[in-house]
Amino acid sequence: MRTPAQGAPDLAPPPSLEVRGGRKNFGAVHALRGVDLVARAGEVTALVGDNGAGKSTLIKCIAGIYPFDAGEVFFQGEPAHISDPAKASDMGIEVVYQDLALCDNLDIVHNMFLGRELKKGIRLDEAKMETRAAEVLASLSVRTVRSIRQHVASLSGGQRQTVAIARAVLWNSKVVILDEPTAALGVAQTEQVLQLVRRLADAGLAVVLVSHNMNDVFEVADVINVLYLGQTAAQVRTAESSRAEVIELITSGSSSNAPAVPVAAASAPVADAPTTDANGSTLA
Ligand SMILES: Nc1ncnc2c1ncn2[C@@H]1O[C@H](COP(=O)(O)OP(=O)(O)OP(=O)(O)O)[C@@H](O)[C@H]1O
Ligand SMILES: [Mg+2]
Repeated sequence: MRTPAQGAPDLAPPPSLEVRGGRKNFGAVHALRGVDLVARAGEVTALVGDNGAGKSTLIKCIAGIYPFDAGEVFFQGEPAHISDPAKASDMGIEVVYQDLALCDNLDIVHNMFLGRELKKGIRLDEAKMETRAAEVLASLSVRTVRSIRQHVASLSGGQRQTVAIARAVLWNSKVVILDEPTAALGVAQTEQVLQLVRRLADAGLAVVLVSHNMNDVFEVADVINVLYLGQTAAQVRTAESSRAEVIELITSGSSSNAPAVPVAAASAPVADAPTTDANGSTLA
């Protein structure tokens, strides 16, 4: 077990997911240059930042699609090495990507079990999948779909997002990461998806919401993590922050207000950038 951060009262359970000093280069491009993220169960943590700030790269590293070049990941307080997407899924980390990767020609049930179908002998266990899909949708209070045997092609954008999110929580997930879930939606559908996001957190999941939309962020997030040019500018509590402060952090990387909730790892040394003293000796 790791020890609590110095000076921090550690009465709360450890975060479901924590990244400290995450770095990722693509050749000469420093996409992530020291990212710290803390996502707790029962909370929506918004991940915001300008185009190119590194949001998608960060979630891909967390999901095991790319390896971090440096930095540490903790899952429920324990050091974790997420080597590939299957490992992330096994641990209970699910990502809903913006393109959703749903199959239009399949119904809702088959989409929810895509690639992880339940079988009885060599046949698909249709009855069990249907029951389980219905249970999950009911548990998320999803009432907008007419039939779970409806083809996904006939669903609205908001309904498709709902199916993708329900698919992510079907697997005993602990952390669900949503990449811009409302980007393509109208007002009413956005509201439905945000309510669903809130219910996921209320059900005890740690939810990470990537968003450009300040209305969405301030409506649903408990905590806001701002990335600026591949670095964490701050992680602040929504209730103790303001749009002006978050926009300042997004556009300039700093704000006149001190962050209300420092990211636990903000002071951790970055592995591949040792600090040296005047004699060139590495400082501890
Ligand atoms: N596969 C890749 N190869 C090379 N460079 C990449 C790759 N993926 C991302 N980058 C670069 O890394 C930086 C961060 O990109 P990323 O897609 O993570 O940003 P983002 O915050 O998700 O932006 P947006 O809001 O536009 O989606 C950018 O400079 C981008 O060009
Ligand atoms: Mg992106």
